[in-house]
Amino acid sequence: MNILVLNGPNLNLLGKREPEIYGRESLDEVMAGLVNYAAECGAEISHFQSNAEHELVNKIQSVLLDDSVYEGIIINPAAFTHSSIAIRDALLASALPVIEVHLSNIHKREAFRQHSFISDIASGVIVGLGTVGYRLALDALLDKK
Ligand code: DQA
Repeated sequence: MNILVLNGPNLNLLGKREPEIYGRESLDEVMAGLVNYAAECGAEISHFQSNAEHELVNKIQSVLLDDSVYEGIIINPAAFTHSSIAIRDALLASALPVIEVHLSNIHKREAFRQHSFISDIASGVIVGLGTVGYRLALDALLDKK
């Protein structure tokens, strides 16, 4: 099983960015841990991070255009969660099961973080559990198969 893992803007700063909210591990460390965990589960992940909305849209479109063989998407759209209809539409076009992950509990934070353009089209949403959320998302996708 091949899973596409997407991280949105500013998540390249994990470990340096507001560590009291987002933790002290770098994105490379978190993704390396996820690759190992996936291997233990007999799965493979491909990871892509971008600060640019169109690059995330293009990556999601590659599921259809390049005949990539992904069976699910784990996405932390970061700030685009609260603004991007383009990412929502691309995820819908992919027709793959999507798990939305947020490191922080967005429901305990500012009002503008309470709305997600992704949650109602996702198979599931994991918030507020830090980086373990990515592993739980993988568990959920593997369990569906
Ligand atoms: C985030 C929450 C978003 O509101 C924020 O813009 C992020 C990270 C999270 O993982 O908690 O960049 O997606």
